[in-house]
This record gives sequence, structure tokens and C-alpha cells, in this order.
Amino acid sequence: MAFMTWDDSYSVGFQSIDDQHKKLIKMISDFYNAMQKDDKGAMKVLLASLADYTKYHFGYEETKFDQFKYADTIAHKKEHAAFVDKVLDVKSRFESGKLVMSTEITKFLKDWLIHHIKGVDMKYRKCFQDNNMK
Ligand code: FEO
Repeated sequence: MAFMTWDDSYSVGFQSIDDQHKKLIKMISDFYNAMQKDDKGAMKVLLASLADYTKYHFGYEETKFDQFKYADTIAHKKEHAAFVDKVLDVKSRFESGKLVMSTEITKFLKDWLIHHIKGVDMKYRKCFQDNNMK
């Protein structure tokens, strides 16, 4: 069974954002699989990709916040920044050999993403719909 899979309850109702969330879910799942195989080369590549794609995705949402003058922009951006810091911290400690990877870390990434999508991203649905987001 995959460590993390898409569930329709995660849908925020916009194809572009759902697709980005699906990609993040797959990246975390792939990272978990690489960790189970102790494939450090794949882990390094996947962690770098996860950091890059997370920044891309958050940037995408934040551009819409600014464009639509979304009311919860500041709080939402703070959550994004904290997660990027966490991923970059894990990445740099892993690359310098100072971090022993554990399922706790992948569980943190998974739980954070699900909580964020369902609890925080869902809040912009109405604003985005009102602005005719596709
Ligand atoms: Fe989909 Fe706010 O991240």
C-alpha cells in the first residue's frame, strides 16, 4: 500500500491546484519508498525536488491570493513559509549527514500536507470561486 495517496476529500475544486497537490503527495510517497529501501541517492534527489516543487506550489497559490486580495493571505503565507523552512532544514541536515531519516519525518510531511490542504487551503475556495478561478 502506498504511504500516501490522493483522496477526493482533498479536492479544493480547482484542477490546477488539485494536480499540484497530487504531485506533492506522490513526491512524499516516493520519498518514503526510497527511505524504506535506504536508497540515499534517490532520497537526496526527491528531497530536493520536494523542496523546489513545494516552493513552486506555494508561490502559485500566493500569486492568486494577491490577485484576488484574499483575506487570510498573511496567515496562510506564514504556514507556507514555516513548511518551506522545515523541508529545507530536513534537506540540509540530510545532505550534511547530520540527520538520520525516520518514518517520523515522512509522517510529519504527510500529516502537515493533509492538515494544510483540508484545514487551510479549503478556506480559499469561496474567494477563488468568486474570482472565477478555473
Ligand atoms: Fe496548497 Fe497552501 O498549499
